[in-house]
Amino acid sequence: MRSIELQGAGGPSHIALGLPVSSVPDLCQGRRITVITDNDVCALHGNRFPECNTIKIGTGEKEKTLETVHRIYETFLSLDLDRSSFIVGIGGGVVCDIAGFAASTYLRGLPFGFAPTTLLAQVDAGVGGKNGVNFQGYKNLIGTFNQPQFVVCDFRFLKTLPMAEVRNGLAEVIKHALIGDRDLLSQLETEREHILSLQEDIIEKIVYASLEVKVDIVSRDEKEGGERRKLNFGHTFGHAIEKTMGLSHGESVSIGMVMEARLSMAKGLLTAYDVQRIKNMLDGYGLPISAPLDRESVIDAVGKDKKREDEDIHFVLLDGIGAARIEKLKLQELVEAFDDLCEHR
Ligand code: GLY
Repeated sequence: MRSIELQGAGGPSHIALGLPVSSVPDLCQGRRITVITDNDVCALHGNRFPECNTIKIGTGEKEKTLETVHRIYETFLSLDLDRSSFIVGIGGGVVCDIAGFAASTYLRGLPFGFAPTTLLAQVDAGVGGKNGVNFQGYKNLIGTFNQPQFVVCDFRFLKTLPMAEVRNGLAEVIKHALIGDRDLLSQLETEREHILSLQEDIIEKIVYASLEVKVDIVSRDEKEGGERRKLNFGHTFGHAIEKTMGLSHGESVSIGMVMEARLSMAKGLLTAYDVQRIKNMLDGYGLPISAPLDRESVIDAVGKDKKREDEDIHFVLLDGIGAARIEKLKLQELVEAFDDLCEHR
């Protein structure tokens, strides 16, 4: 078992890897627990949850709305929760986002923790204290920065994940390696079979290394004033592709990472060999490196991305493998480069 401590402005967040979900009550220090989960996770794993009130939501990104949060507030009210209560989100990224947001806003903030059940939530969505909901077609437009008191990564949850969902998480692990850890990239190359078969000791190693990259960045820039933007590598095009093409988050980010790596190469920051290495890596994990993109709608979605400030986009470029830098680019520059960034197979 390994652990990492993230020091947030409002207090520490303790991240425990390889701890079973049954340890949650101990971490809540005797407080009255309310679990928020989704129907699928509850059906698969509910027998291992702590004995307490459980609020179930539907499954998928469509649930990440203020309406869902409204229903949760109503249940909090009917359960008579007060500041001595403790909220625990057990589920994937959607559950963690909603549980963290509802807890952070009810009664001006209830303490909360997570037991993320997907690889994506264990390496990204559940860690770092960004919690929120989508609004009028914009992802995560409404939300809070507030750290969970704990994050318990129980790797038994991963055993029931469909492979497509494992790949979603691996896309973020690869992103963390590319922006901050060359050794992790080498491990991902050499340990592919063990990783894809979810061998627990190897999974713990790569989740740990991945979180070290994220926690290091978040602890220096919790509220995304600058450096935290590096975590958006692959996501400027990735979010636009996800929105317009209906691909999964991991697939979209994978294509976005190839496009953004090619832009880094065009700016002299990466070699052709580096870009090929990235493509081989993504392909080896069954992630796409290209898709027939609709140029106009992808560019339109990039332009509407909330990371845009005036005419500029804070764009994350790779500065060699294992390092990243942020540059302000004009949307027009991306429009002009677009065709060269797409992979033509
Ligand atoms: N998922 C990106 C971040 O936490 O900032």
